[in-house]
Amino acid sequence: MSDAMQLTGLAPRAALAAVRQALEAAAVPDASFDARELYRLAVGRDPRLDDTPLTAEHAARLGKLTARRAGREPLQYIAGKWDFLDFTLDVGPGVLCPRADTEVVCEAAVDLLREMGKADPVVLDLCAGTGCLGLGVKRFVPGARVTCWEKSPEALPYLRRNAVNALKGAEVAVREGDVLTGWQDMEPGSVDLIVSNPPYLTGAEMQELMPETAREPAMALDGGADGLTFYRCLTGPWQKILRPGGWLVLEIGYEQRRAVLDLGEQNSWVNGTCRQDYGGNDRAILLQKPVDLG
Ligand SMILES: C[S@@+](CC[C@H](N)C(=O)[O-])C[C@H]1O[C@@H](n2cnc3c(N)ncnc32)[C@H](O)[C@@H]1O
Repeated sequence: MSDAMQLTGLAPRAALAAVRQALEAAAVPDASFDARELYRLAVGRDPRLDDTPLTAEHAARLGKLTARRAGREPLQYIAGKWDFLDFTLDVGPGVLCPRADTEVVCEAAVDLLREMGKADPVVLDLCAGTGCLGLGVKRFVPGARVTCWEKSPEALPYLRRNAVNALKGAEVAVREGDVLTGWQDMEPGSVDLIVSNPPYLTGAEMQELMPETAREPAMALDGGADGLTFYRCLTGPWQKILRPGGWLVLEIGYEQRRAVLDLGEQNSWVNGTCRQDYGGNDRAILLQKPVDLG
């Protein structure tokens, strides 16, 4: 596939089929979808609506992109941009690719904020990566005062760009900081809602990553031996930072529901519930700080 001559002059459907076959041969999941996206990136047109044979230039570009994807580079990194909810984020090596499964976590946070009914709630997105969750909250609750926390020097440049550019005319604040200790610098009772998709893979899962996931930063994935390191901190000392009655909304791995709800109970949270993502997997845990807890 690196030989562009194989694609030059091919009709779009034939080129698409050749790309799909190359991706299938490399065991790329969703090869048809990815082939179409690579065509769009290389040619700038949707192959289903295109009837122009590939020029040598387009063929060369498509060949290079196909080779990268066949090498199991994430499609999101190749594209450099990815959609989350109804906006687009800068993405690339060094930052976790935003997942569709995470959208339900944002929806849960937005629902709680709307129920709260505050015009300008204070919201933290802890372990923000691209900023998808914090930006999603800001998108649907425009009055929210959102700060996205991130520690990784590789992820922060993406976060800073997205914080300013992803939403037209609205911005979120960015704070460089370590979530495992940063609660110490925060005013107790100062926050209405914390949303977080922390690293949550177990030590065993870190040994069995899909090739694409292995290209994403280990720091974004590694939740310690049992996967719960960040949940212990978020359900523990971060509780002080929420105001009484405030909410903690956490993304979880699909097998972590019981363990995270248990952490919630052990730390006196109330009204713990779990929401599933659109694939039917447990995905978001919602915990409320008791109204009578300082
Ligand atoms: C699972 S990713 C989630 C990223 C983003 N929220 C999303 O949903 O796509 C976890 C993020 O936490 C960041 N992170 C890891 N350890 C951290 C720490 N101690 N303090 C702050 N951020 C941390 C990683 O760099 C990564 O961006």
